[in-house]
Amino acid sequence: MDQKKVDIQFTLNAQKTSVRIPVEMTALQVIRDVVGFKGSKEGCGIGECGACTIEVDGKAINSCLMCGVQLDGREVLTIEGLEREEGLHPIQETFLEHHAVQCGFCTPGILMSTHALLKENPAPDDEEIRDAVSGNLCRCTGYQQIFSSIKAATPVKDDSFFHTGDAENTLKKSQVFADETSSSMVLNGTKKGENNGEGCHD
Ligand code: FES
Ligand code: FES
Repeated sequence: MDQKKVDIQFTLNAQKTSVRIPVEMTALQVIRDVVGFKGSKEGCGIGECGACTIEVDGKAINSCLMCGVQLDGREVLTIEGLEREEGLHPIQETFLEHHAVQCGFCTPGILMSTHALLKENPAPDDEEIRDAVSGNLCRCTGYQQIFSSIKAATPVKDDSFFHTGDAENTLKKSQVFADETSSSMVLNGTKKGENNGEGCHD
């Protein structure tokens, strides 16, 4: 049976993006498998590990729990959009300086949680930092280095520190068609998520 597909448009890392997706696709699948940005990882797929964290309208979201169709009209920032023309984002720099990266699988999600935190709260205390990344699991257990990195990043602020995903400098409009069969979704653990718990179906 043919999968039902829908066209959605959203701003992804400051680029207007148009895709046609199966209705049951998750936002993570759209970003990884349709658009082709592989930086956001799938760890658990059930909202527990935070490896899939992206920003949607400035908020950290577990993209494995978000329906792809919910991206329509939204401003999305992924790890691929964090780096700046002049080089790594200051948050990425502090992670390197503090050796907060081991295997690195969790790192994109933690960086996105950190970016969202600092946008909302430029000077978080230790508890706020820990709370902001509490949904991001690191199997290599380098948490102290991660906390130190975030703490070190907090004074580093200038106008270009925060990416808004704003499309003023829209570069191109791409049309991508997805034919992949999506895997089923499990919806729970909505700490960061914004899904309505109804699944991705028509
Ligand atoms: Fe683990 Fe999304 S993949 S929370
Ligand atoms: Fe390996 Fe975090 S650095 S899971």
